Amino acid sequence: MLARRTVTSVRALRATRLLSTRAADILSSLDIPTSVELPGVYDGNWVGNGDIMESVCPTTGEVLARVKTASPEELQHALIKSREAYRFFRTVPAPRRGEILRQIRQALSDKRDALGALVSLEMGKIRTEGVGEVQEFVDICDYAVGLSRMMNGNVVSSERPGHTILEVPNPLGVVAVLSAFNFPVAVYGWNLALSMAAGNATLWKPSPSTPLCSIAVTKIVAGVLEKNGIPGAVAGLVTGGKDVGEAVVESRDVDMVSFTGSEAIGRIVGKTVQSRFGKILLELGGNNASVVMPDADLSVAVPSVFFGSIGTAGQRCTSTRRLYLHRKIASEFLELLQKMYGSIRVGDPLVSSTLLGPLHNTTGVNIFTDAVKHLRDSEANILTGGSRYSETPFDKGNFVQPTIAIPKSVDPTDKIWSTETFAPVLCAAVFDELEEAIEWNNAVPQGLSSSLWTRDLRNMGKWIGPSGSDTGIVNVNVGTSGAEIGAAFGGNKSTGWGRESGGDAWKQYVRWSACTINFSDEAPLAQGVDFSV
Ligand code: UN1
Repeated sequence: MLARRTVTSVRALRATRLLSTRAADILSSLDIPTSVELPGVYDGNWVGNGDIMESVCPTTGEVLARVKTASPEELQHALIKSREAYRFFRTVPAPRRGEILRQIRQALSDKRDALGALVSLEMGKIRTEGVGEVQEFVDICDYAVGLSRMMNGNVVSSERPGHTILEVPNPLGVVAVLSAFNFPVAVYGWNLALSMAAGNATLWKPSPSTPLCSIAVTKIVAGVLEKNGIPGAVAGLVTGGKDVGEAVVESRDVDMVSFTGSEAIGRIVGKTVQSRFGKILLELGGNNASVVMPDADLSVAVPSVFFGSIGTAGQRCTSTRRLYLHRKIASEFLELLQKMYGSIRVGDPLVSSTLLGPLHNTTGVNIFTDAVKHLRDSEANILTGGSRYSETPFDKGNFVQPTIAIPKSVDPTDKIWSTETFAPVLCAAVFDELEEAIEWNNAVPQGLSSSLWTRDLRNMGKWIGPSGSDTGIVNVNVGTSGAEIGAAFGGNKSTGWGRESGGDAWKQYVRWSACTINFSDEAPLAQGVDFSV
């Protein structure tokens, strides 16, 4: 027995040694073993007998963990467990569900810094943004706790005497959340919090490249569920690749699919779910513009555009990708912005002084390289950036230079303007009238976020009104990214029309019934229809 234990610990030690201290410390602070292959499926129990998936650090190229994904049988089993969990959870009173969310909020908050560091380690965003993402989950839990006592229906006046009409929200069923690598914690949080408050079971299929974040979060949530005697499959997890994603989307056991990702995949997901008449919530590409008027306060506008375009290395759905500058301030603005770009501190995202970490993966680097090539080929003026950081230690990670370009054409149908480049590439153009800038803003297929920089009330009125910006998020003197949880988050047009987080978003996570109740002794028909014999 003793000998066996020694062998195990030596093996564990050896495997631990392979992992850098940088990574090992973060994983152990979240009770994630560093020496074994991790089960990547949770349905009340931790299992995983499917393909092995590796989590790779975008900064160093180090393999952080090997995760055992869901086999087809395990996925089907998880779906059954989710359905069972829903049947139980829908009977738990909403304020009680809120109390469980309050405890989840506390458990997440207790691990905020460690979890934030894990986001930074595995996704590559800088630590403060990683921690901010966990805070976003904490915030939406607070919101959902309140919501659990406020998911109100309506009482409608009936036209018939002795009748009343109720509009009643009831739990929907099983909600699958397919999240993207760029927000590996917060976007799941938005969905889980509302879905739980609404009384559903939620099944999470995270991005294949951020399994550790999903395992760490699920462990924390599962701990709270267990303490409260709630089935773990209320917040289940299935890691895996395309096959697992497809099976979830196609399953008739999934009542709603909340998908965050590219327009191309979103189109397929949307069609598939629609073809079986499931509910769908899509959060797809953003191609967000900032419009700067001559009266804008540049001391506010320039740093905000700087964060909007470089924050998260340009990998937010809400990142600023297009910059429309009024002719009167264009050169001054670009000069100030370039100065800020020149001062960017690149490096390990876990180091507190770093402002620019790596792109998440090599696909991102290729997207960057292709976009820059297209800019060069089409004779754009590249003001700054345009290459990879290839010197040591950056050569080990996916580091690219934040880029500002002035494309030759302002034609919004040109691919450089009309497609979302998920990398820190900012394209600028000069306009003369606000109407022209609004037209450019609205001319692309996507419609997630946009910002106007002005002190003039008339410009603001135009911008937020019927002839203004057509995006789901329409800001004034606030950057395109970094939305708070209180308002509904989402975009129009090819962004998919979905709304998550605050506002009325919760109404999508329930099934609505219109209940007409007759408490009279007659049976009158609506619209005065006479059907008497
Ligand atoms: C995303 O990029 O998918 O508004 C979400 C923001 C964040 C959420 C972004 N609160 O930038």
